Amino acid sequence: MGTALKTNDFMEIMKGRRSIRNYDPAVKISKEEMAEILEEATTAPSSVNAQPWRFLVIDSPEGKEKLAGLAQFNQTQVATSSAVIAVFADMNNADYLEEIYSKAVELGYMPQEVKDRQIKALTAHFEKLPAQVNRETILIDAGLVSMQLMLTARAHGYDTNPIGGYDKENIAEAFGLEKERYVPVMLLSIGKAADEGYASYRLPVAKIAQWK
Ligand SMILES: Cc1cc2nc3c(=O)[nH]c(=O)nc-3n(C[C@H](O)[C@H](O)[C@H](O)COP(=O)(O)O)c2cc1C
Repeated sequence: MGTALKTNDFMEIMKGRRSIRNYDPAVKISKEEMAEILEEATTAPSSVNAQPWRFLVIDSPEGKEKLAGLAQFNQTQVATSSAVIAVFADMNNADYLEEIYSKAVELGYMPQEVKDRQIKALTAHFEKLPAQVNRETILIDAGLVSMQLMLTARAHGYDTNPIGGYDKENIAEAFGLEKERYVPVMLLSIGKAADEGYASYRLPVAKIAQWK
């Protein structure tokens, strides 16, 4: 039963991934393993390393019940998954730059003077940055981490479904998050697959790529 086996074979992880919408409800991912999955996924790159992704791991019966009311036609994923991870992008991404760059200095990844120079430049940059441009940037970053999360899940023997069909207007406030700050990205259901999902067609490279 299920498609994902614990493996580190990258081609198997990537090419074997399918959206799984039905899970074995008996399988619960522990908080420790979920934290590990998130830690691994967040090795993703992000604009100026601001790491604007935020995760709400919805795995309690109360959380799932609340989410069900917002999940439109994606009820099976909510009901049977081990958890649904609501991915958000944080409009206040610049608030963490000092911490991120200071840690890099402390760990010996970056000289102090590079940090000072970068923080100065970034502070000026973010002061002038239109909110819409920041929003587009953090959505790209959060998309990258979401993809890594789906692949990391498979390395742990789980499968996922990215879900865009939910009430994005109300998700943040429903879970006590500030709506203007936390931009909804997608839901990711995660759990032990209960079926094999469906194969799906991809356009040939000749249609989607050009060489100049
Ligand atoms: C941003 C995004 C939103 C999606 N929203 C939904 C959704 O609301 N419900 C659903 O069942 N699948 C959803 N999907 C899954 C796609 O239908 C699926 O990825 C696509 O058909 C390719 O199939 P595969 O994931 O099995 O390769 C979504 C995928 C993405 C990337």
